[in-house]
Amino acid sequence: MSTAIINISSLVTNDPSLGHGPLGLIRDAAVVVDGDRIAWIGENSKAPATDNAVDAEGRAGIPGFVDSHSHLVFAGDRTAEFNARMSGQSYSAGGIRTTVAATRAATDEELEANLLRYLREALRQGTTTFETKSGYGLTTHDEARALRIAAAHTDEVTYLGAHVVAPEFADDPEGYVALVTGEMLDACAPHARWVDVFCEKGAFDGDQARAVLTAGMRHGLVPRVHANQLGHGPGVQLAVEVGAASADHCTHLTDADVDALANSDTVATLLPGAEFSTRAQWPNARRLLDAGATVALSTDCNPGSSFTSSMPFCVALAVRDMGMTPDEAVWSATAGGAAALRRADIGRLTPGARADLALLDAPSHVHLAYRPGVPLVSAVWRRGLREL
Ligand code: NIG
Ligand code: FE
Repeated sequence: MSTAIINISSLVTNDPSLGHGPLGLIRDAAVVVDGDRIAWIGENSKAPATDNAVDAEGRAGIPGFVDSHSHLVFAGDRTAEFNARMSGQSYSAGGIRTTVAATRAATDEELEANLLRYLREALRQGTTTFETKSGYGLTTHDEARALRIAAAHTDEVTYLGAHVVAPEFADDPEGYVALVTGEMLDACAPHARWVDVFCEKGAFDGDQARAVLTAGMRHGLVPRVHANQLGHGPGVQLAVEVGAASADHCTHLTDADVDALANSDTVATLLPGAEFSTRAQWPNARRLLDAGATVALSTDCNPGSSFTSSMPFCVALAVRDMGMTPDEAVWSATAGGAAALRRADIGRLTPGARADLALLDAPSHVHLAYRPGVPLVSAVWRRGLREL
C-alpha cells in the first residue's frame, strides 16, 4: 500500500541529484512511501497517485536521525556525580563503575524496559536508527546479556567489554584484556556487529586497545573507537590504522590526527552532549570539515557523561559551539551517522532507501538550530510505518 506525504515546504534528501546543494533540498516536496521503502520523491505538483495521502501542511521534512553512538543498556543514574561536576569536580572514566554495579544488579526485564524508555524518547525526537553498546556489565555473562537485549531492538550492536577495566581486575588490567579478547569475546561476538574500546587514560592504552580491536576483527566484528575524548592520545591514529568505521569523540586532536582522519574512510563522530555535560572543551568540527574529514554527530546517550537522547539538541550545540553550519550539522546527524555505520539505506531520502523520515513543526531544517530546545519533531515514519 502506497502513501504520499504531500505539501512538505522544504525537504532534506541528502541526495544532491534530487535537489539543491549537498542536502539535495527540494522546495514544495512530496514523498511516496511503499512498504518500508521510499518509492518516489520530488516536487509536490508531480506526485503520482497513491492509495493514501498525508498532508504535511507546509512542515519541513528530514531523513530520520541516525544516532550512531549510544550506551543504552544500563540501570540506575548518576545524578549525584552530575551535581558534583556542576559544582566544580572534573569528569573521569572511573564513574562508569557506578553504573556497572547498578547494571549487574538489574534483571533482564529492568534493563530492557530502561532501553525501551530511551528508545521511545529518542523516537519522539526524530531518531529512526540507533547504535548501542554493551560496556556496563564487564563480565562475560553481563556483557553477553546486554548485547542480547540490545540486538532485539537494533541491528547496530557494539561489543564494548573494553569500556573500563572491571573492578575485579583492578590489579590485573592485562588479565582483563585477556578476558575481553578471549572468553568474553567468544560469548559476545555472535550478538554484535561492531567492536569498540575506550582508548583513554584511566581506561585502555593504545596497545591494549589494538589487542581488543584486532581480536574482535578476527571474530568478524568491525572496529569503532572511543578516541581522544579526555586528552590527546593514540585512539584516532589507531582507529585509522585498523580501518575503523568511526573514531568517536575526537575532542583533542593534533594536526596529524586531523590529517589521518581526512585521508581515511574513518568517520569522525562528534558527541557534543558529552562536552556539554562534562563542561569540557568543544570538539572543533570546523577544523575537521575544512580538512576534508567526514563528520557525524551523535548523542553518546549514557547516564554518566551525556544523558541526552536528543539529536536536535546535538545539532544545536554543534552549530552554536563547534563551528558547523545548520546544513552541515543536519547532514552529519543523518547521512553522517549512516556513514559512521557504513549504511547506504538510511540517512537519506531517495527511491529505494528506507522510509525513515521526520516532519518538523517549522518551515525548514535550519530551525533545529535556530529554535534550540523546542520540540519541533511532529511526525515520524520508521520503515514506512507512522510511529508518531
Ligand atoms: O562515551 N567514554 C566512555 N564512555 C562514555 C561514558 C560512559 C559513562 O561515563 O558512563 C562516553 O562518554
Ligand atoms: Fe560513548
